[in-house]
Amino acid sequence: MTASISPELVALSGQPVPRYTSYPTAPHFSADITAADYGEWLRAAGVTGKPVSLYLHIPFCRTICTYCGCTTKAALRDDPIRAYAATVHDEIALVARHLGPAPLSHIHWGGGTPNILPPDCFTGLVEDLARRFRFQAGMEHAIELDPRHVTPEGARHLARLGINRASLGVQTLDPAVQAAIARIQPLERIEAAFAALRAAGITAINADLMFGLPRQTLDSIRGTVAALVRLRPQRIAVFGYAHVPWMKPHQRLIRNEDLPDAARRLAQAQLARDLLLQAGYCAVGIDHFALPDDELTLAANAGTLRRNFQGYTTDKAESLIGIGASSISRTPHGYAQNAPDNHGWRRAVEEGCLPVVRGHRLLPDDVARGRVIEDILCRFKAELPQPDMAVPPQLAALVEQGWVRVAAGRVEIHDHAPEIARIVASAFDAYLPSGGRHSAAV
Ligand SMILES: C[S@@+](CC[C@H](N)C(=O)[O-])C[C@H]1O[C@@H](n2cnc3c(N)ncnc32)[C@H](O)[C@@H]1O
Ligand code: SF4
Repeated sequence: MTASISPELVALSGQPVPRYTSYPTAPHFSADITAADYGEWLRAAGVTGKPVSLYLHIPFCRTICTYCGCTTKAALRDDPIRAYAATVHDEIALVARHLGPAPLSHIHWGGGTPNILPPDCFTGLVEDLARRFRFQAGMEHAIELDPRHVTPEGARHLARLGINRASLGVQTLDPAVQAAIARIQPLERIEAAFAALRAAGITAINADLMFGLPRQTLDSIRGTVAALVRLRPQRIAVFGYAHVPWMKPHQRLIRNEDLPDAARRLAQAQLARDLLLQAGYCAVGIDHFALPDDELTLAANAGTLRRNFQGYTTDKAESLIGIGASSISRTPHGYAQNAPDNHGWRRAVEEGCLPVVRGHRLLPDDVARGRVIEDILCRFKAELPQPDMAVPPQLAALVEQGWVRVAAGRVEIHDHAPEIARIVASAFDAYLPSGGRHSAAV
């Protein structure tokens, strides 16, 4: 259900708050965590014998979309991509040396645009992973794809490698908005990508949509959602455009006067949500939608939904190991982030070191607050870290306005209003007051 758009809600939705794909969030990691710490954490994860998940980051695209907030760079030729893949092999070997032949429950290829990998490079990397780790039966093997580069042969190749889930970046189908974000992909291209994947046997398809883009209107949201739901992806994520030009200088190509204001962003988010619910999708967390029989919907209904760096997931693994420049790993002991730049990352790997440059060792208070934040974003309610905890001062106004109830050791958001979930979560973030600039809550 969507909340009615009041001036109070517009003001709340414009508040800058983190997206909370981890707690603490990456700006609060420090250089105190070293490769030696991370090596110990990997060894400890390996000896449990429990399944782990892998995330492999491929930070290349043929061209850079002006809105892009991802860690990636343009590569028109394949040489830098092949050189990068060679270092990924070396990092896989380093990780395997510490972790041992762990069972894998999930592999996720993200970027950037992982389908930019030349086919022989991709095959070599998957074979390397299969040699060093154990692929569990039913393992989810997912990839983020740029639909402009999906071909029937490319899709068959992915299927042969065991890829069984694909996320397509659709964003918008409005030609005026596509022109404003330097990403031209007509509906026929998206249809062809869906058809190629399905013909190859990859039927678990997710699509990303965005609102708040330059020149985007309610009509363009209506047209985009109507066309996309006809293609019936199993899952649809609806992301608000995060305008962070101080971190992503290419976003300065987007003119401020072309961006919808907070009220328009909120209206676009709510329209997309209403249209997806009307089309038979179920809301999952704050920004995902899935078909009623999809595992993500079932997990949301069963209260077992999780949130990690890739967003909402059914993944239950305790450890998510990031491979590639800038990727972040999570183990029960803490977070470790690889060098963000390709050169620093490659230098460390070539020296035989895990390429970690910062991270965070989890304290009991972090674990308790992280659980509350994850519960709020997955279930819109949480047990307080301590039952007698006073209402955090940041929540007092929301409680008074009737958005949030805090009673009997629990916090709960009325009507599961997704518009304020990140704000409520941020009230439990002990690091937030110490800085960081963020995008709007909606
Ligand atoms: C790695 S990209 C997806 C794969 C592929 N590179 C593509 O663009 O099709 C991940 C997703 O992040 C989202 N995204 C990128 N930049 C964003 C931003 N500034 N704000 C919000 N979402 C963003 C887009 O929806 C995009 O599909
Ligand atoms: S949105 Fe996707 S294709 Fe565009 S620059 Fe970012 S990662 Fe690359």
